[in-house]
Amino acid sequence: MKRVLRWIGIVFGVLVGLVVLAVAGVYAVTEARINRTYDIRVEEVPIPTDADAIAYGERLMKTRGCVDCHGQNLGGRVFLESPTAGRLVATNLTAGRNGIGSYYTVADYVRAIRHGVGPDGKPLLFMPAHEYYFLSDADLGAMIAYLKSAPPVDSDLPPSQVALPIRILYLLTGQVALLPAEWVDHDAPRPTPPAPSVTAAYGQYLAVTCIGCHGPGLSGGPIPGVPADWPPAPNLTPGGRLSQWSEDDFIRVMRTGVTPDGKQIANRYMPWQALGQMTDDELKAIWLYLRSLPAKPTGNR
Ligand code: HEC
Ligand code: HEC
Repeated sequence: MKRVLRWIGIVFGVLVGLVVLAVAGVYAVTEARINRTYDIRVEEVPIPTDADAIAYGERLMKTRGCVDCHGQNLGGRVFLESPTAGRLVATNLTAGRNGIGSYYTVADYVRAIRHGVGPDGKPLLFMPAHEYYFLSDADLGAMIAYLKSAPPVDSDLPPSQVALPIRILYLLTGQVALLPAEWVDHDAPRPTPPAPSVTAAYGQYLAVTCIGCHGPGLSGGPIPGVPADWPPAPNLTPGGRLSQWSEDDFIRVMRTGVTPDGKQIANRYMPWQALGQMTDDELKAIWLYLRSLPAKPTGNR
C-alpha cells in the first residue's frame, strides 16, 4: 500500500513538473514574440487639412471600428477583460493626459495603423493592423488628420495583461490576433485600393472591418478570443439568412440593429451604432459584395 502511494506521489510530482515546464515554455515563446523589434520602412501619406476630410476621418473612426476598442471619445479603454483573455487595453489616442496624440508623428501613426508596430519597433498587442494595412492613402490620411485634431481626453488606464489561455490558443491555433504585426507583409508593394463607388470591389474593401468577427470568409461561427457568453457571428454569405433578405433589410440591420424577424442585436456584440454611420452607397457596396460571395456553410470562417 505504501509503495503504491509512493508511486502515485512520484507520478503526480512528474505531471506537475511537466505542467510547470509547459507554462514556462508558453510564456518564453510568447514573450519573445511580444518583445521582437520590427524595422519598418514607413510609407509617406499626405495629410489633408480641409474640414471635409477631417469630418470624413472622424466618421472612419466609427465605421472602421476604432471607437469600438479605443472608446467613443478615443480616450482609450479596457475593451475586454476575461479569465481567458486577461485584460486588453486600447491606448488613449488623443493629446490628453496619457494619450499618444501629443507626441505621435505622422510616421508613427502610419507604422501603428498599417503595420501594427509602435514607435519603439515593438508589435502592438491586439491592434488589428492586418485589417488596416489595406486602407488607401486618402482614408488613412483623413484618419490621421482627424486624430491630430481630436478633442483631448485625460485617461488613467491599467496596462494590458495577456492571460495564459489566450497565449496557448494563439500558439496552437494561429488565429488569435495577439500580434497582428505578424500577419502583415511589411515589405509587400502597396495594394491599389478600389475607387469609392457602389461596386462589389469597394464593398470588399469596406467589409474588411467585418472579418475580425464574421471570419475571413464571412461565413460566421464562434468569434475567437471573446467571452463565452457571446453569440456566434452569423454567416453573411448567401449560405446564411441574408440570402432571404433585401438590400433594404440589410441596411435596416446595419442602421438599427433590428433584423427582418424583429430581433434587436445588442450593440455590445455587433457595433451597429458605429458601423451604421456608413453612407447608403457604402452599405450598398457591402451588400453587393456579400451577394457576390460563394454560399458557404456557417462556421467554416
Ligand atoms: C480590436 C481592438 C482595436 C481596434 C478595432 C483598433 N485598435 Fe488601435 N489599438 C488597440 C490596442 C489594444 C492598442 C494598444 C497596443 C499595445 O498596447 O501594445 C492599440 C494601439 C493603437 C495605436 C498605437 C498607440 C500606442 O500605444 O502607441 C494607434 C495609433 C491606434 N491603435 C489607432 C487605431 C485606429 C486609427 C483604429 C481604427 C482604424 C484602431 N486603432 C482600431 C486595439 C484596437
Ligand atoms: C465586434 C464583432 C462584429 C463586427 C466587427 C461586425 N459584426 Fe456583424 N454581428 C456580430 C455578432 C456577434 C452578430 C450576432 C448578434 C446576435 O446574434 O445578437 C452580428 C450580426 C450581424 C448581422 C445580422 C445577421 C443575421 O443573420 O441576423 C449582420 C447583417 C451583420 N452582423 C453584418 C455585419 C457587417 C456588414 C459588418 C462589417 C461592416 C459587421 N457585421 C461587423 C459581430 C460583429
